[in-house]
Amino acid sequence: MDLLELARAELLRSNADRKHPFRLLYLSTAGEYPETRTVVKRKATPDFVITFFTDSRSPKVSQIRANPKVSVLFYHPKKKLQIRLYGEAHLIDEGHGDFNRYLQSVKESPSLKDYTTIQAPGDPLSAGPEASVLFGDDIHFIAIEIKPEKLDVLLLGRDSHTRNLYQQTDGRWHQQSLVP
Ligand SMILES: Cc1cc2nc3c(=O)[nH]c(=O)nc-3n(C[C@H](O)[C@H](O)[C@H](O)COP(=O)(O)O)c2cc1C
Repeated sequence: MDLLELARAELLRSNADRKHPFRLLYLSTAGEYPETRTVVKRKATPDFVITFFTDSRSPKVSQIRANPKVSVLFYHPKKKLQIRLYGEAHLIDEGHGDFNRYLQSVKESPSLKDYTTIQAPGDPLSAGPEASVLFGDDIHFIAIEIKPEKLDVLLLGRDSHTRNLYQQTDGRWHQQSLVP
């Protein structure tokens, strides 16, 4: 079983299939504690580069600035396929070649509002009995690209499980089988 090909095929499928479980990913960064949160995967390339969008003021962005090493978890419940991806996160902000295209796609979508809260994500809501999230005109958008260094792929089977570690050197993935 070529787990690398299976992982690649499912990730690429999820680019087009809106119901695919890999539409969501679970991103871990190093903070005061290990921090994990759900985000929407916007793009996966055949070489496992993963892109997602976020608010440039969010804690995950400052955590990535302090330490770009991150891990990403995908799980496909029907196929019982887990992908743990380890890599380096790169901030795609103004000045980067892809930024304007990503920003434009957000401007044309209902999710634009998500990047326009007056207070930053995670801030305590300003006091008051009817405290609610307020929106302004400024767009605090940033894209984040994760370049993979290591992949740990696990496939659960009825009789046996298969787990392989893939590490990239000189553009080639080297496989090491692991005890599941
Ligand atoms: C289904 C789902 C999808 C989400 N998608 C995103 C997303 O694409 N980008 C994002 O920044 N936060 C997304 N969030 C919110 C994050 O999980 C998180 O609460 C927020 O980004 C703040 O994270 P931080 O404080 O660790 O930076 C999503 C949450 C859920 C439950």
